Amino acid sequence: MSVGVTQPRPEPNGEVGAGAAILRVSDLVVNYGQVEALHGISLEVRPGEVVAVIGSNGAGKSTTLRAISGMIRPTSGRIDFDGRDIAGLRSHQIVRLGLVHVPEGRQVFANQSVRDNLMLGAYHAQGDQGGTSRLLERELDRFPVLRERQDQLAGTLSGGEQQMLAISRGLMGRPKVLLLDEPSMGLAPLLVRQVADTVQQLNAEGMTILLVEQMAMMALSVAHRAYVVQNGTIRIEGPSGRLARDPEVVRAYLGGAAQH
Ligand SMILES: Nc1ncnc2c1ncn2[C@@H]1O[C@H](COP(=O)(O)OP(=O)(O)OP(=O)(O)O)[C@@H](O)[C@H]1O
Ligand SMILES: [Mg+2]
Repeated sequence: MSVGVTQPRPEPNGEVGAGAAILRVSDLVVNYGQVEALHGISLEVRPGEVVAVIGSNGAGKSTTLRAISGMIRPTSGRIDFDGRDIAGLRSHQIVRLGLVHVPEGRQVFANQSVRDNLMLGAYHAQGDQGGTSRLLERELDRFPVLRERQDQLAGTLSGGEQQMLAISRGLMGRPKVLLLDEPSMGLAPLLVRQVADTVQQLNAEGMTILLVEQMAMMALSVAHRAYVVQNGTIRIEGPSGRLARDPEVVRAYLGGAAQH
């Protein structure tokens, strides 16, 4: 894999993630009809961390994020966010609390302008109009291509630009924690690197991120800690550096060869 992302992130310096968890998922069970997709997932994210969830197709990564953000209702389990149990709350209530989900497959509104897509990201967020205008400017500064194309229909953007728009729209929701579902999906290696840089940049600004990825090495390169999901269960967890050396992770998710 030549994405230019070959080093796992160094161990946290002791300050990052030192506090109590801002997001804690405990024994999460989710069903699709009769089929149990998650069998008791537990994970936590502490303020200032990037935490990755890696795993193969169908492992349950997106289902975990959908349950956290209220898109689907858990069968059982707790989801504690910023001091309250949010399991069972509606998704717009969860956004308002500061937990924003950028879903798989980008899902921008193709027939609306780039700017309107961004403004829609602020729709459920707390805050006044002046604040929203400032946020819009910040996002257009962050991704100059979005400023250039702000009047264009979002559907005319390239895949990589749509991913930037999707992340940017999420940021318009003033998240305390950002949930990113496979931002690298379908992107060329150079753009995967750009997405990784964006995640790191956001984290350097203080954003706490739960990142779901099939691209395990990319995820481990930006995350402080990671969880491996397999068949609806957490199979391995730990600091990214340790997971990148774990023989099972290497064999199953990093292409079989140890990466240095
Ligand atoms: N809407 C749905 N209805 C029924 N089953 C579903 C639905 N969405 C997902 N599943 C099933 O739940 C399991 C977990 O799916 P999920 O989408 O969470 O996997 P994932 O880890 O995100 O995979 P991918 O990397 O392919 O996105 C799979 O067996 C999948 O087939
Ligand atoms: Mg998925």
